[in-house]
Amino acid sequence: MNSKTIRTFDPDLPIHLTFEEQDWHILAEYWYPIALVRDLTEQPTSTLLLDMPLVMYKMGDEIIVAKDACPHRGVPLSLGKNDGQGVVCRYHGLRFGHEGKCNRIPAHPEHKISERFNLKTYAHVERYGLLWCSLKAKIGSIPHIPDMPHWDEMEFQQLVCPPVDIQCFAGRQLEGFIDVAHFAWVHPDTFGDPDDAEVPDYKTTETANGFSADYISSVGRYPIGEVQRGEAGFQWLRHFEVHLPFTATLTIHFPHGTRQVIMNAASPMSARQTRLFAPICRDYDKDLPVEDAYAFNLKIFEEDRLIVENQKPEYLPLDLSIEAHFPADRSSSMYRKLLRKKGFSPLFAA
Ligand code: FES
Ligand SMILES: [Fe+2]
Repeated sequence: MNSKTIRTFDPDLPIHLTFEEQDWHILAEYWYPIALVRDLTEQPTSTLLLDMPLVMYKMGDEIIVAKDACPHRGVPLSLGKNDGQGVVCRYHGLRFGHEGKCNRIPAHPEHKISERFNLKTYAHVERYGLLWCSLKAKIGSIPHIPDMPHWDEMEFQQLVCPPVDIQCFAGRQLEGFIDVAHFAWVHPDTFGDPDDAEVPDYKTTETANGFSADYISSVGRYPIGEVQRGEAGFQWLRHFEVHLPFTATLTIHFPHGTRQVIMNAASPMSARQTRLFAPICRDYDKDLPVEDAYAFNLKIFEEDRLIVENQKPEYLPLDLSIEAHFPADRSSSMYRKLLRKKGFSPLFAA
């Protein structure tokens, strides 16, 4: 997809936009994860959120998230280094420290520094081991972050999987996460059962932030650790909570009463690039190496990659007449309807 270059200057919009402008403005109201907190250091690193290049760096315990462009001549700050007092721009040495404020202009050491030289910073907050950011929220306002069931409970262990980059639209990825008819076909080597492809009827319920779905079925293999015990006849409950636009949690109720929650937070870097963040909590297998859980999870997402990177059209048709649907698609139809209700384009994001 070619990006649409904005011809009139708007400092709040990315220079290269891959979304329809109207969709971008709605999307920019929401919060998305942009990094693992444990990966952040003093040194600047770059990322992309909704086409906006961002730089992240630390000053002591403070995290700064700013537009990755020097206010002087637009050079990415992520090319520079933090000298302890701030990130030094590679071009003319301007330095940016606490709150993204410029604290040095080497060409004019005696001049008072105008506010025009401060970085454009963004609201952010740490939650579930992730750094969440909103391009439109006011700094200091209450962040609107999706809930993760059980994360803060004593008996649950928290794991934060390394992010996975997928070349697809976040809406297509999220829809794959809540799709219950593909387990037998895409995941026979992990948790799906190729001999159990039938999807029992299930319900969806609209909620304040999206909808929930309770899917009860006998499909359940979990070939690592404690819940390996496959038992004929048991039923698994998969409880999904979808938080629009691109986050969902899945709580799996295992046969012996143990639970695992996985959050699928698809962060839209652009209309065709998604960085997937997946915090997990569980009340079993707490002594196993976390790397085993990371590897298992990665294997599942790699199985999905083949599908989601090849779907056509690449956008998510919110106009339900464009693709064919069967009853097991109840969740995806609900997802598309609710996105449309939010005002997103019928061809989202073409
Ligand atoms: S472009 Fe950054 S200091 Fe000039
Ligand atoms: Fe999948």
